[in-house]
Amino acid sequence: MSKKLFIETLGCAMNSRDSEHMIAQLREKEGYETTQNLEDADLILINTCSVRERPVHKLFSELGGFKKRKKPSAKIGVCGCTASHLGEEIIKRAPYVNFVLGARNVSKIGEVLHKDKAVEIDINYDESEFAFDDFRTSSYKAYINISIGCDKQCTYCIVPKTRGDEISIPDDLIINEAKRAVDNGAKEIFLLGQNVNNYGRRFSSSEHEKVNFTELLRRLSKIEGLERIRFTSPHPFHMDDEFIEEFAKNPKICKSMHMPLQSGSSKVLKEMKRGYTKEWFLNRVQKLRSVCPDVSISTDIIVAFPGESDEDFADTIDVMKQVKFDQIFSFKYSPRPETEAEHFTNVVDEDVASDRLAYLQSLHNELLDEINTKYLGETFRVYFENLNKDNFVSGRSDNNLVIKVKGSEELLGEFRDVKITSIGRTILTGEIVA
Ligand code: SAH
Ligand code: SF4
Ligand code: F3S
Repeated sequence: MSKKLFIETLGCAMNSRDSEHMIAQLREKEGYETTQNLEDADLILINTCSVRERPVHKLFSELGGFKKRKKPSAKIGVCGCTASHLGEEIIKRAPYVNFVLGARNVSKIGEVLHKDKAVEIDINYDESEFAFDDFRTSSYKAYINISIGCDKQCTYCIVPKTRGDEISIPDDLIINEAKRAVDNGAKEIFLLGQNVNNYGRRFSSSEHEKVNFTELLRRLSKIEGLERIRFTSPHPFHMDDEFIEEFAKNPKICKSMHMPLQSGSSKVLKEMKRGYTKEWFLNRVQKLRSVCPDVSISTDIIVAFPGESDEDFADTIDVMKQVKFDQIFSFKYSPRPETEAEHFTNVVDEDVASDRLAYLQSLHNELLDEINTKYLGETFRVYFENLNKDNFVSGRSDNNLVIKVKGSEELLGEFRDVKITSIGRTILTGEIVA
């Protein structure tokens, strides 16, 4: 009988892909099968996130729960970003944990599994050329890492401390991975990196040909059978004209851009070390919309960064009103260990932070109602990926709207034209017209 693996994944898409990589190694080399039942598992992994403080607290309560429910012989491994930054402390606080594996050391899963109390968290470890075995949760959409780590030093962000310096994965490995995914039925690929449009800045081998992100997109789009390319996260600082023009004219690139604003105030952006101003951000949006009028734009915003005044917050609101983002991921600033901003003393009052976040979110909902109304009666080409409750199947339009229709399994992995019949804030409903 095969051994059973239970894995819980927190955090971003890179963590989801790292989990797939660990599952692949454990299946192929160690004979594990995944299970949804913790009680049946021989190995329990939690792939953690530490971008904000709350998930770290959650980790130790989760671990306590695992200990109570697990089989006595089952091992527990803590992986991911919190593993990178807490390291040995995890085993000190939770001595029943068997090993700790950092976000930059995923390829060592097979080794740490056999060493009790192993702690592998080297953020300089270079696994950019490691050939992981294949495993994908979805056969319709393939997540592919194109770089690891991050070279930016945004003052609020822990990621460079958990994932180390940025290294690009060689383009031939990426292209081969994409081809394999397409051969296995995926019509869409989703390229992942903390800073995707900085791709090509550094490869492990100094001999590697200079290939930038725009060129990588061109090469990938030549793959036959591949219909859609998405990516996250691009950085506004690196959105040059060449990149925006390729994005607009390449029919395989989905017309949905994530543009993480963080703050609309040039003063706060400088304190955050984001490398752009309010004007640059608005200029890039304008350029993008001028060459690609139907593009949808999503963003990330942090409210109440230290020193954010009412005027600074008003600048963020001003950008929101000017851009009318299709989707906003908004967060209250959370001080993180080993970051520059952790030492900033001009902290914003907690009540003010909560009020700003609530205001921003309600304004976004108002703007969204206005944006979504115009979709009623429109037709979108939808790629179906999920089976939902009550005989609905859902998928995404090219510009990333989530759309559901009545239907069944046969629609999965298929494209259809769908006319929108009713609108909601996060999901639209429609009927197939072709
Ligand atoms: N590389 C991506 C961000 C990855 S982290 C980028 O630059 O866009 C995802 C998001 O978490 C960030 O965009 C930011 O909005 C948020 N975030 C990161 N650190 C944070 C902190 N200390 N407090 C609150 N939100 C934070
Ligand atoms: Fe963090 Fe900035 Fe790097 Fe994004 S670009 S991961 S916010 S340091
Ligand atoms: Fe979290 Fe690490 Fe991703 S901190 S957001 S899992 S890069």
